[in-house]
Amino acid sequence: MEACTQKASAVVGLQWGDEGKGKLVDLLAPQFDAVVRYNGGANAGHSVVVAGERYSLHLVPSGILSPGVFAVVGNGVVVDPERLLEEMKTLSDRGVDVSKLVVSDRAHVVMPYHKEEDALREELLSTSVSEKTESKGVIAAIGTTKRGIGPAYADKVQRATAIRIGDLLRPAILREKLTMICSMKNAIFAALRPDGHTAFDADAVADEMIALGEQLRPMIKDTAYLLDDVRKAGGTILFEGANATMLDVDHGTFPYVTSSNSSALGMGPGTGVPPQCIGRIIGVVKAYSTRVGGGPMPTELFDSVGDEIRVRGREFGTTTGRPRRVGWLDLVQLKYAAMISGATELCITLLDVLSGEDELKLAVAYDMPEGRTDRFVADGYALVDAKPVYETMAGFSQDITGARTFDELPAEAKAYIKRVEEFVGVRVGIVSVGPDREQTIIRD
Ligand code: IMP
Repeated sequence: MEACTQKASAVVGLQWGDEGKGKLVDLLAPQFDAVVRYNGGANAGHSVVVAGERYSLHLVPSGILSPGVFAVVGNGVVVDPERLLEEMKTLSDRGVDVSKLVVSDRAHVVMPYHKEEDALREELLSTSVSEKTESKGVIAAIGTTKRGIGPAYADKVQRATAIRIGDLLRPAILREKLTMICSMKNAIFAALRPDGHTAFDADAVADEMIALGEQLRPMIKDTAYLLDDVRKAGGTILFEGANATMLDVDHGTFPYVTSSNSSALGMGPGTGVPPQCIGRIIGVVKAYSTRVGGGPMPTELFDSVGDEIRVRGREFGTTTGRPRRVGWLDLVQLKYAAMISGATELCITLLDVLSGEDELKLAVAYDMPEGRTDRFVADGYALVDAKPVYETMAGFSQDITGARTFDELPAEAKAYIKRVEEFVGVRVGIVSVGPDREQTIIRD
């Protein structure tokens, strides 16, 4: 196989999502020929501010805001066609050119019954689990985004009950498949909700999906070949991670995770680009921690400091509007995530939000029932027992949103960044001090 002359780059979250990946992708996208999503679906929420205008993207890669760059929805993404079309329309109405958007024919479709199943399972989990069984390890609810992500990925692995984007273009086969699938789904729903469930009508679902497929037809492609063509022509690729490393189904805080490989490890299977073609991996990390939904978060704050950071950082979900849980930066977790995602460089975001705190805390170890450790515990049940061991650093009070070089930052902010680099062992190459493209410090 020919060598990869132009290595691809990647932007991936190193916490529990919402690290500000969208802004970074948007900033870097003009240097690339294709920006590619490889995992997740409409559970992701990337906010990008361009010239004072805020865009909220869920399924469309953030690269769409850079004219002339392919915005590729890879095979590893689960696509809700209705939401994708809605998002494209909103972007077009605001003058964004969406003609370079391409969707893999092998991406799986989030069907109406997936969304219902997601909501129903969450409801059943939260109502059927007593406090007693929960303490034995039975989870109450994952706190999903209810976008149908888990059930769509479950059907992908199940195979016979899966629908891929390419299937939407084969009406006769799709109709036949949906007859079988809807009868199975209806039986499951009837069992899960014995007090009544509106059955899915296979023909109605097929009509809706065929119509949506027709609208998507021009952008449905074999994106593995498209990306290979880009590379062979000397072009460059930027991967846009969605969700984040700690939500990775294999390496995150299972079972409180999403259903895809949302660390950098998902890039190959989610796009068809081989691993040796991937070079620079920028791990994005907030200057503090946040998490949406259930699951342990060792450094979570329940006091007024947490509330202040939540308000200053506008920590309310882009996808669901839920208030995010807020905590101090957890270096044990960050170092682990940098290891799993193979970060070659870090980008610290929302540093400006910490301005005003007298002191800043960093978790450097955990006290576990077995003793002290500096290793992350990648298990949602065991991590509950982790008590963070903090190091305290001086805070800063200056407004840093106008800083454009590292040297313009207050000494305390520089010391904080240097401590992160030292602990994690990866250089901080980029610092974001505000939502706008311009509010970014690129270090030499
Ligand atoms: P799901 O991906 O909707 O199944 O949700 C599983 C868990 O991942 C929940 O705790 C969600 O809140 C969380 N999650 C999924 N996507 C994101 C994201 O993009 N940002 C933050 N949390 C997310």
